[in-house]
Amino acid sequence: MKLTVAKLFLNSGRKYGTINRNLYGQFAEHLGSCIYNGIYVGERSDIPNEDGIRLDVVEALRHIRVPVIRWPGGSFSENYHWRDAVGPKQERRPIVNSSWGDVVEDNSFGTHEFFRFCEMVGAAPYIAANVTTGTVRELEEWISYITDAGDSAMARLRRENGREEPWRLPYVGIGNENWSMRPEFYADRFHLFSSGIHSRQQIERIACGPDGANYDWTDALMQQAKPSLMNGLSLHYYTMPGYYKTDEYPQDEKRPARDFDREGYYRTLRRALYMETLIRQHCALMERRDPEGRIGLVVDEWGTWHQPEPGTNPSFLYQQNTMRDAIVAGLTLNIFNRCSERVRMANIAQAVNVLQAMVLTREQEMVLTPTYHVFDLYRAHQDARRIESYIQQDLTGPQDAQVPALSVSASEDEQGVLHATLVNTDADESRAVQCLLEGRAYSSVKIRYLSGAIGAYNDFDRKDAVQIREMTPPVIEDNTFAVEVPACCVMELTLE
Ligand code: AHR
Repeated sequence: MKLTVAKLFLNSGRKYGTINRNLYGQFAEHLGSCIYNGIYVGERSDIPNEDGIRLDVVEALRHIRVPVIRWPGGSFSENYHWRDAVGPKQERRPIVNSSWGDVVEDNSFGTHEFFRFCEMVGAAPYIAANVTTGTVRELEEWISYITDAGDSAMARLRRENGREEPWRLPYVGIGNENWSMRPEFYADRFHLFSSGIHSRQQIERIACGPDGANYDWTDALMQQAKPSLMNGLSLHYYTMPGYYKTDEYPQDEKRPARDFDREGYYRTLRRALYMETLIRQHCALMERRDPEGRIGLVVDEWGTWHQPEPGTNPSFLYQQNTMRDAIVAGLTLNIFNRCSERVRMANIAQAVNVLQAMVLTREQEMVLTPTYHVFDLYRAHQDARRIESYIQQDLTGPQDAQVPALSVSASEDEQGVLHATLVNTDADESRAVQCLLEGRAYSSVKIRYLSGAIGAYNDFDRKDAVQIREMTPPVIEDNTFAVEVPACCVMELTLE
């Protein structure tokens, strides 16, 4: 039964840990037009760029304060050899991207270009090492090339290639989706490749973790990988909105990104909400072996995975992004915030033109997706202290695919400003919410929100069909105020 008014309780008097800014990270792979034509157009392009990197994309990503970017893959990383992509561009070795459509790449975007991109965006670099076709020596030399300040052979090579100072490299992923290996074999490879990273380099090592609900993998890795070498364990989970009556998981199926009905909408949200079960179960296993919580869970691939847009290369994973995707993002980011004690990083797949992208580009043009706007609404949570929050629930959606109508997470920043992010999943009906504030007296509230029909999206001919709006602020009386949350909506409340 629908609640007449749902109560929202926000208590800044009860604070938990810090919400790691890295939960708002991105993933950028050599896939389709994520890197080439998306991020990188080359110095000679007419599209405004610096060092070949698109300025409109940089500006958009800076605005949402992207904290960390994972690169070069994904699957691509398991065939990547960094030395092919440094040095004079005309001398770089072209490669065939056998992971994604066998397209030829000239390797004009390599280590220097990636670190430049990160600097421009203001994000930390997170590289994924090749532990399948690569060698330990190759990784050791790559890291030395990136981080050596002294007179090593790799530092000299970097200088010859035009970069005097080393870069800071905080995170290295040891492999990607190495699930064709037995966990025991992968654990050995993890140790081997970790030996290519020296403790003086102060780099966090992230081990390849499970695919969705593969709890055996987590358990095996937590038992067999040396905890002193592992700072993070990754988790990959994509929301694929296919539907099987008897099974919430593991059977997945991709469906069109735009052409879906209400049932498809709610089923997609159910799939997305499954992220919380996965996180809690994997965290429970990690807790057994690492009760101090030293090893973080790193959800370094997540997001919706629909069918590619008709007429596009199916290997390029180009999909449109609707309000449904925005709701998935809002629900998922609220889950990450609420689980932020152990979840330390997450990287949505992917930043540009691939899967649940932040931005879409076409020649000179760029479109901000509804998902981008959700990252904008949530950016104040980065590095803020999570606070107690609770919202009364009723269910919405068809009988066999119901989801909670409302979701919330909240934090307090260093200036004592409270930010709460709310999601109304109901496709058709707004929700009346009465907000009860605790912890201190608040006198003003600012409301920004994103809302629209479940299938609404932005495109090159209507870039602002879905955009953030502000609501007339309600009056706070006795630390209480009322707000009507529109249907299919993600909302940010800022309280002072
Ligand atoms: O993000 C697309 C692909 O999904 C990645 O390359 C791979 O790691 C995953 O299967």
